[in-house]
Amino acid sequence: MKTLTVDLRSDTVTLPTQGMRDAMMNAPLGDDVWGDDPTVNALQENCAAMFGKEAALFVPSGTMANQIAIRCHTQPGDEIIVHKESHIVHYEGGGAAALSGCSFAMVDGERGFFTSDDVVASIRPDDAHFGNSALVSLENTHNRGGGSVWPLEQLQSVCTTAHAEGLRTHLDGARVWHAIIASNHNAKTITAQFDTVSACFSKGLGCPAGSVLMGTKDVIRRAHRIRKMFGGTMRQTGILAGAAAFAIDHQLERLVEDHLHAKALATGINQISGLSCDVENTETNLVFIDIDRSLGDGATLCRKLWKNGILAEALDPQRVRFVTHLGVTDADIERAIQVTADTCHEMD
Ligand SMILES: Cc1ncc(COP(=O)(O)O)c(C=O)c1O
Repeated sequence: MKTLTVDLRSDTVTLPTQGMRDAMMNAPLGDDVWGDDPTVNALQENCAAMFGKEAALFVPSGTMANQIAIRCHTQPGDEIIVHKESHIVHYEGGGAAALSGCSFAMVDGERGFFTSDDVVASIRPDDAHFGNSALVSLENTHNRGGGSVWPLEQLQSVCTTAHAEGLRTHLDGARVWHAIIASNHNAKTITAQFDTVSACFSKGLGCPAGSVLMGTKDVIRRAHRIRKMFGGTMRQTGILAGAAAFAIDHQLERLVEDHLHAKALATGINQISGLSCDVENTETNLVFIDIDRSLGDGATLCRKLWKNGILAEALDPQRVRFVTHLGVTDADIERAIQVTADTCHEMD
């Protein structure tokens, strides 16, 4: 009998729904290099309006959106103040150094958060020995922080301090959608104080590709030039922008379901001997599981789970991540808990 697979590796594994495929097929198209693609133009205008920014630019990936933002805000020799567990530090191929000549001043803090005091303490003296502090970058939700949603006041105070100190601010909002839904704040409230904001359509919203970078007209004009330089300009991009527009209209509100699934998963997993989850702080769709050494390491657990049809990823030696998304049902959650319990029982 074929083992049914529950794919919890990431919210990027989703396939376009039939409605999304129809929207892609029916999207009016043009050559976006000429500025002729009506679907891209409409998406950019809608995103800018939704997030309260002057302008927006559609780009292929979240990584490119972040890297373009960094290039817009910095010069070689500049330093970026960022949490040490952030995506731009861990998972962007060293792009900030390679593409913009920047180093990181890395701060620590629970769940991917830091404070305005951390910002002040990280700013380099105005002295030729040091890198030049130029940009503060935040991530909301914070991936390695456990899909955590920044407390609004803390986020605002970090941005206020950064600006008062003459620094720019960027939000890596790959999963800002989850922050919007989980916090009940609207997009403008969460992102008002950032000079630039990136958001991904391929995480949680179910699109095959695409992200957007938003900011002032000036910064987006510069981003447009840098996107070309980085090789990210595409032609009949409305095929992808059509998917993104569909996702905002039809697949944003349903993130509530993913968050409930994650909470149920964390609650069930937390009852398994040798595994622990921070159930209370599982606020969105990412479930992080700490594994007691008596069970072995995360990679071994994942290999065994894979054999039993549950796909997950070990992000650290003793930490595994389960991610809920639109392809995951109530029954999948029950099955994932049961299979994980059985697998751990065998390993014990
Ligand atoms: C927080 C965060 N930022 C940026 C990205 C990069 O997105 P992409 O894979 O589209 O480059 C990811 C990807 O998972 C992410 O989790």
